[in-house]
Amino acid sequence: MRFPIEKFSNIDTPFYYYDVELLKKTLDCAKSEAGKYKGFHVHYAIKANFNPRLLEIISSTGLGADCVSGGEVRAALNAGISPEKIVFAGVGKTDKEIAFSLDNGIFCFNVESIPEIEAIETLAAEHNVTAQVAIRINPNVGAHTHSNITTGLAENKFGINYEQIDEVIDFIEKMEHIQLIGLHFHIGSQILVMDDFIALCGRINELQELLYDTRGIVLPHINVGGGLGIRYDAPDKYPVPDFELYFATYANNLKLHEGQQVHFELGRSLVAQCGSLITRVTYIKHGTCKKFAIVDAGMNDLVRPALYDAYHHIENLTSDKEGEIYDIVGPVCESSDVFCKDHKIAESKRGDILAIRSAGAYGEAMAFGYNCRELPKAVLSTDL
Ligand code: LLP
Repeated sequence: MRFPIEKFSNIDTPFYYYDVELLKKTLDCAKSEAGKYKGFHVHYAIKANFNPRLLEIISSTGLGADCVSGGEVRAALNAGISPEKIVFAGVGKTDKEIAFSLDNGIFCFNVESIPEIEAIETLAAEHNVTAQVAIRINPNVGAHTHSNITTGLAENKFGINYEQIDEVIDFIEKMEHIQLIGLHFHIGSQILVMDDFIALCGRINELQELLYDTRGIVLPHINVGGGLGIRYDAPDKYPVPDFELYFATYANNLKLHEGQQVHFELGRSLVAQCGSLITRVTYIKHGTCKKFAIVDAGMNDLVRPALYDAYHHIENLTSDKEGEIYDIVGPVCESSDVFCKDHKIAESKRGDILAIRSAGAYGEAMAFGYNCRELPKAVLSTDL
């Protein structure tokens, strides 16, 4: 990615910089690769980045939305995403969020417990509408990723256990204002090993067979969740994820009944590589053994390294000197406020501008105001 560094010098740091051209290229690629298969639908997982200006671009490409709160449903609608393309997941949907979604006629609730189904039934009856739901099943497939972002294992707050499916379907059949339209799965995030998705397909096939054999049921919608990872280690070499392989993996491994639609909830893979957190070096501090580059962005701006030990490639945009090893750290009063330990970047000095790469997903969206710090601003390449 090329950064317009001359233009950065007048902008207060830290800020998120989004390369709109790369975003559009990524969205187009995902859309055209999914479009090769009949009945494949992509919903953008808004949790990854809900910046309204990015949402507008995403909405204009015609993708649907995957939401996990009433606020996200509202953000999707405000961006112009059609309610018939909105799915709403989450273990703790409140009455207010359910009512708002029913009023706006969203496509589907991904339901995660019997008490939630009861709440949706009551509210749908009050609003005199029928709610469409998909049951979120825990496929008991472990993804090879960080334990904090694995969700498909049996003992998890998310979803309904594989063994309880009959009980849940029996329960939904008694509801008058709920229509069961599908099954929903999600095994985790930042998955680069296609075998994990193949394992998920295997579980879905087994379950579909079981439902057909024991109850004669074929549900029209299969939602496989999201999770496709990106290459944090090499953002310039792999700016666009391998959507061709990803969708082909599902097309080749899912056994579908005639007319069944497949839904994807992609977050990170659509927005991560187009975003960088731009920060200035405040001080270079020489410790006894280490050198610290203290920057003006902190864990409150990008929490992933502190929360998940996540690696983000960092480069100095204003120095072309020989590389030196630094711990690149923020100003927040927490020892976990470290972006990278023992990282080699061009020799840096106070005032240099650094880019913390691959930060478009779960970066700005997870920023917070600890230490009375301002939330980071966003600059789009089209603003400059
Ligand atoms: N669908 C469901 C039900 C999910 O829970 C998630 C992410 C997605 C779709 C989108 O997954 P993606 O395509 O982005 O992998 N904050 C963490 C990631 C949390 C993911 C939560 N769920 C991080 O920064 O790595």
